[in-house]
Amino acid sequence: MLLKLNVNGQQRSDDVEPRLLLVHYLREVCGLRAANVGCDTTSCGACTVLLDGKSVKSCTVLTVQAAGQQVTTAEGLAADGELHPVQAAFRREHGLQCGFCTPGMVMATVGLLAENPEPTEDQVREGLEGNLCRCTGYHNIVRAVLAAAAAGDPATSAGSGRSGPSGPVRGRGAPAVGTSGPASDAVGA
Ligand code: FES
Ligand code: FES
Repeated sequence: MLLKLNVNGQQRSDDVEPRLLLVHYLREVCGLRAANVGCDTTSCGACTVLLDGKSVKSCTVLTVQAAGQQVTTAEGLAADGELHPVQAAFRREHGLQCGFCTPGMVMATVGLLAENPEPTEDQVREGLEGNLCRCTGYHNIVRAVLAAAAAGDPATSAGSGRSGPSGPVRGRGAPAVGTSGPASDAVGA
């Protein structure tokens, strides 16, 4: 079926199978590789993207559910050659170790800060509990999120114009549309 949507600011029109998952559409049709497939079972958050400014796990969203909406991946965050404030904070605070979980962590953070621009540490840990880091580098990740929030730059909001309209994230971390999200206490550990 013919699908029209916006990906990272670009209008697209693609013929897709109704069963095609959003993460596979982004990777295989759009050629965007930031959203990774880590588990395929809505557990790890490696596939997190923004859908109209709200973080979702794209391994559990059908591409057709994104029809007419704006999808933002980590590739679409930087503007005019400058890192998005959340990306800059992750870099500054050493909130990343690998390229597998980090794009999802960053996108979940943008969604989290759009909902709650001044989270406490506990709220950050709870908000990102749906995103797993296998090397358990959570302390620096949490520090990076708090640093991005403290910077107070409105561009940290998913509604800044870079990432689509603001709005609450769907539950904790980035649960898939229509699910209650994974239960993981890893970030809170
Ligand atoms: S691939 Fe793990 S939550 Fe989507
Ligand atoms: S930094 Fe990516 S899995 Fe730990």
